[in-house]
Amino acid sequence: MNNRELFFSHQAQTSHFPIGLEITSAEGVYLYGKDGRKYIDLISGIAVSSLGHGNRRIASAIRAQTERHLHLMVYGEFIQEPQARLAGMLSESLPHTLSSCYFTNSGTEAVEGALKLSKRFTGRENIISFNNAYHGSTQGALSVCGNEELKNAYRPLLPGVCFLRFNNIEDLKKINGSTACVIVEVVQGESGVRAASPEFLAELRKQCTAHGALLIFDEIQTGFGRTGNCFAFEHYDVIPDILCLAKSMGAGMPIGAFIASSKIMDTLAHHPPLGHITTFGGHPLSCAAAAEHLSILKEEKIIDLVPGKEKLLAEHLAHPAVKEIRSKGLLVAVEFENEEINKKIISESLERGVLTDWFLFDQKSMRIAPPLTISREEIINACGIIRDAADAVVR
Ligand SMILES: Cc1ncc(COP(=O)(O)O)c(C=O)c1O
Repeated sequence: MNNRELFFSHQAQTSHFPIGLEITSAEGVYLYGKDGRKYIDLISGIAVSSLGHGNRRIASAIRAQTERHLHLMVYGEFIQEPQARLAGMLSESLPHTLSSCYFTNSGTEAVEGALKLSKRFTGRENIISFNNAYHGSTQGALSVCGNEELKNAYRPLLPGVCFLRFNNIEDLKKINGSTACVIVEVVQGESGVRAASPEFLAELRKQCTAHGALLIFDEIQTGFGRTGNCFAFEHYDVIPDILCLAKSMGAGMPIGAFIASSKIMDTLAHHPPLGHITTFGGHPLSCAAAAEHLSILKEEKIIDLVPGKEKLLAEHLAHPAVKEIRSKGLLVAVEFENEEINKKIISESLERGVLTDWFLFDQKSMRIAPPLTISREEIINACGIIRDAADAVVR
């Protein structure tokens, strides 16, 4: 069997409509197909490859760690240089209350850890989330997913979860003394890039503090420069009690984290001890890559250029078929008239060599989240191809 046959015969499918491209190599913003075709990657493996593909410094950090050691012991027992160094670097980049990092393998695991930590720290069981939120696919994360269609077939899920309307200040009155935590994306990704309003986030912080509920920011998709600041919450004057990270964190290597104060985090270590454990969380290779990623972001000032690229994208995506463009940095939703037109333009763009995608809960919009390192010329070129695709579809 060739790889295509193996993929369809023996790899579990997540839908009956996979993109099914066979990619053999990747460099910068380009993916190279088996057929020799070249595609501009405007989605970065869903907001993962922020530095583009094949970054030399990341590859050499991974290689160097490979020579030292791979896995040694379950997370949290041995002192391992890449983990300790990364925890220190993250703490230095964050407000002083976010000083204790628990490393996971993925985003959904970071969310699981954050929810457990909130219940344990507060001694409460109720959780508040928002309509159209996406926090991952495991049972706890799915329980706080604000989309019925995605989760309904998997009930029963966690009890005590209540959903409020995103950006609705009135609804925040539902936070009370039995609320363990409120989990929120600072910019909702899967609902098609909807940023929290400053007033909403400020009131959310106020209500959580007033009632002793922990505020969790899920920055799994928005972290590490995607929105034009290292973390999206830096656009606001609001600091969470727990921060969840993953996706681009490891610059292509699998890693996530939930980060809180030492006081909050310490509750996982006693009564019982080992309240949250993982074998592979904070894998040395992933930590080495993530630490190098943070260094590159700082030294090469990549994030500073994001707002200019956001503006350029919006200018060059202007087309009569586009109804609205919503963006926060290089997390962009391009809304068309309806789902059918959107999907046709996405397919037509792919035919012409530009990879985009749709959003889980916004079928009318095209997802654009390119590597942050994309050049101005590459943006102009890719947008031209998308406009041509739109011409072909709505002609
Ligand atoms: C906001 C948000 N939270 C959580 C997750 C889940 O992360 P993972 O797929 O690494 O489990 C995602 C993934 O798309 C996400 O966008």
